[in-house]
Amino acid sequence: MTEKILQVGIIGAGRIGKVHAENLAFRISEAIPAAIADVNEAAARDVASRCRISRVARDNSEILQDPSIDAVLICSPTETHADLTIQAARAGKHIFCEKPIDHSLAKIDLALEEVKKARVKFQIGFNRRFDANYSRVRAAISNGEIGVPNLLHIISRDPGPPPIAYIKTSGGIFLDMTIHDFDMARFLVGGEVDTIYATGAVRIDPAIEKAGDLDTALVVLHFKNGVIGTIDNSRQAAYGYDQRVEILGSKGAIATENRYSNTATISTASAIQRDLPLNFFMDRYTESFVTELQAFVHAVLQDKPLPVGGMDARIAVAMALAARQSFEERRPVRVEEVAHIEAQLA
Ligand SMILES: NC(=O)c1ccc[n+]([C@@H]2O[C@H](COP(=O)([O-])OP(=O)(O)OC[C@H]3O[C@@H](n4cnc5c(N)ncnc54)[C@H](O)[C@@H]3O)[C@@H](O)[C@H]2O)c1
Repeated sequence: MTEKILQVGIIGAGRIGKVHAENLAFRISEAIPAAIADVNEAAARDVASRCRISRVARDNSEILQDPSIDAVLICSPTETHADLTIQAARAGKHIFCEKPIDHSLAKIDLALEEVKKARVKFQIGFNRRFDANYSRVRAAISNGEIGVPNLLHIISRDPGPPPIAYIKTSGGIFLDMTIHDFDMARFLVGGEVDTIYATGAVRIDPAIEKAGDLDTALVVLHFKNGVIGTIDNSRQAAYGYDQRVEILGSKGAIATENRYSNTATISTASAIQRDLPLNFFMDRYTESFVTELQAFVHAVLQDKPLPVGGMDARIAVAMALAARQSFEERRPVRVEEVAHIEAQLA
């Protein structure tokens, strides 16, 4: 008996679209990238030729209306995600959507409503949950290895800021960058956050301030189960991508280190040195991008529940909005306060 191969359409052939296209083409045997669309046709053609994708669509609707396509990956800019999710759900496609769905909870709710109505699968691209280091930390918490968790620290610093044009449309540091850490905090602790206090500054590039954003931030999280957490973000770390966590529990602690391209150390009379950590998300999180997509493909083919879904996407955005409000009003903000206000506006 031949196994079903999932036919996938990709929307958006930029940085992350390329990563997913390559993984589907060369690392995931149960799915193939059947078509790709981008408003920049040359970008789509380039990815198609490198990833042996037979069809380049000029318009997203060519993918969405094609009955041979089972699932779509939404890899276009954030402001397109909610509308594309709605169109894809109405067309009966299973959906993998990059983070975040949108910057507005009201729009997220509309999109998730359509997903529910259409009974299609929806996974959000919180790839870090699939990283081996963080999976091990989660396992230590869920199997009680370090007892009851009390303190969580997340360090999440980029090697350098993105282009100013990206910053202008990103929704700001909390919605663009810290969003991964908000999801990571919930995932690792296995509980919800009650209150957020966020502070931040521009310490790296005044152009970031002109664009209305921050480049340095510190966030304090109070979980409903009593755990206290911090998230430490910077858009620039001179030594490269810095991604670490630590949890202190009643019976001990668990911590993860950065990942490196090699384990060599050079010892001399003046210093012991090693090479810098893997430079950015495409290198550091390579395996997690494969594993998250494999999980999506398996869940669709076997009609199983997804490991990270619409509600996870919504809560992380609510946390980001609470952080932004906390920074602007210089006070702790309850996540439910933000979610409630947005619900009233919807
Ligand atoms: N999970 C992660 O770690 C991760 C990493 C990077 C980006 N992202 C997310 O992925 C999304 C894309 O980010 P990126 O860095 O790849 O951006 P990018 O600018 O590199 O690529 C976006 C691509 O989408 C195309 N595009 C624009 N509008 C479109 C439309 N209406 N239909 C089809 N294509 C369209 C652009 O031409 C471009 O090629 C963002 O939402 C971002 O937050 C997630």
